[in-house]
Amino acid sequence: MLRKLLIGTALATSFAFSAHAADVKEVQMLHWWTSGGEAAALNVLKQDLAKEGYAWKDVPVAGGGGDAAMTALKAMVAAGNYPTASQMLGYTVLDYAAAGVMGDLTETAKKEGWDKSVPAALQKFSVYDGKWVAAPVNVHSVNWLWINKAVMDKIGGAEPKTFDDFVALLDKAKAAGVIPLALGGQNWQEATMFDSVVLSTGGPEFYKKAMNDLDEESLKSDTMKKSFDNLAKLVTYVDPNFSGRDWNLATAMVIKGDALVQVMGDWAKGEFHAANKTPGTDFLCYRFPGTDGSVIYNSDMFGMFNVPDDRKAAQVALATATLSKSFQSAFNVVKGSVPARTDVPDTDFDACGKKGIADLKAANEGGKLFGSLAQGYGAPPAVANAYKDVVSKFVHGQIKTSDEAVTELVKAIDDAK
Ligand code: BGC
Repeated sequence: MLRKLLIGTALATSFAFSAHAADVKEVQMLHWWTSGGEAAALNVLKQDLAKEGYAWKDVPVAGGGGDAAMTALKAMVAAGNYPTASQMLGYTVLDYAAAGVMGDLTETAKKEGWDKSVPAALQKFSVYDGKWVAAPVNVHSVNWLWINKAVMDKIGGAEPKTFDDFVALLDKAKAAGVIPLALGGQNWQEATMFDSVVLSTGGPEFYKKAMNDLDEESLKSDTMKKSFDNLAKLVTYVDPNFSGRDWNLATAMVIKGDALVQVMGDWAKGEFHAANKTPGTDFLCYRFPGTDGSVIYNSDMFGMFNVPDDRKAAQVALATATLSKSFQSAFNVVKGSVPARTDVPDTDFDACGKKGIADLKAANEGGKLFGSLAQGYGAPPAVANAYKDVVSKFVHGQIKTSDEAVTELVKAIDDAK
């Protein structure tokens, strides 16, 4: 990929020399925000930029988790056709930065004080070699349960505090004839759920060692085997049609009351928001049982490419709008995520958003904020893909036992490194 990217760099540079005197008043953005909640959130940005006179050239590539979008981006960059920016997850930003195709927003960052307001956990991925190459949009967190309140009341359920409580709750739903667990059988969704299962099964230190440090002893430990066994248990509560289902359709099952709960990142809350549902009344947000106090995060970043000179003003406008305090509140209220700045008031957020903001702060201060391996913040994309693949094969029965799963996991991660 690197060689191809470098050819792209040469092309982009030659475009820069032929730059027109007039700035192009257009932002071209590649992203995978195609669900109802995601599109509503993106509209906030489109409108903010329209107010400043920038047209929006949308490059949507459907597919939650962004795998298809990242394949499309790779092709564009290899052809020297850089978008103004692309939605990206942490380690992908670093990959493109290392390939030398990213722009430099350091001047804007200095002027706007990003160093002081963006959490260090995000700066690790948005700053490369001392230069700002991406604008963080939000902080998502994956260790959540999203529960239909009416179903919960009907089955007389209470917040599950441990994995065993969770299993007991799922049993109650099953007994009442409701689909207990809404899951989309796509590898990234299964792995996103497994992130939470590992944290719940092994605790914070174990999660960090296995999923961020990729410590081999941890990856093949009994605790990891137990994590796979717990995952297998959860999969017994999904409906027979789960294979291939999109994440937002799984969320819709919970919104409609066809299913009790979904384990998903808080982009699921964007769907509840888009359906005019209120936390506490229509739905409940709890931390995945046994993970209270810890936050597994990912953050959407707008990776900023080294675009020709006549497109740089639009890029600066995009970056400035993205990190403005008002946008950080307005966008994240709709998206389900929380601000990528520490100085944005939680006033406009609903109860789940307020909890998300408070949890993030506490986890950060307590050393319990960990990158999601499924969501691009635990390890580089090749390793993350290997992980998603093994988890998915296990869920779909191609890997049969947890013994086999840890062996395959160690091997796949080793090969990918
Ligand atoms: C992104 C979210 C997005 C979700 C589903 C995640 O990787 O971080 O912004 O809503 O995928 O598409």
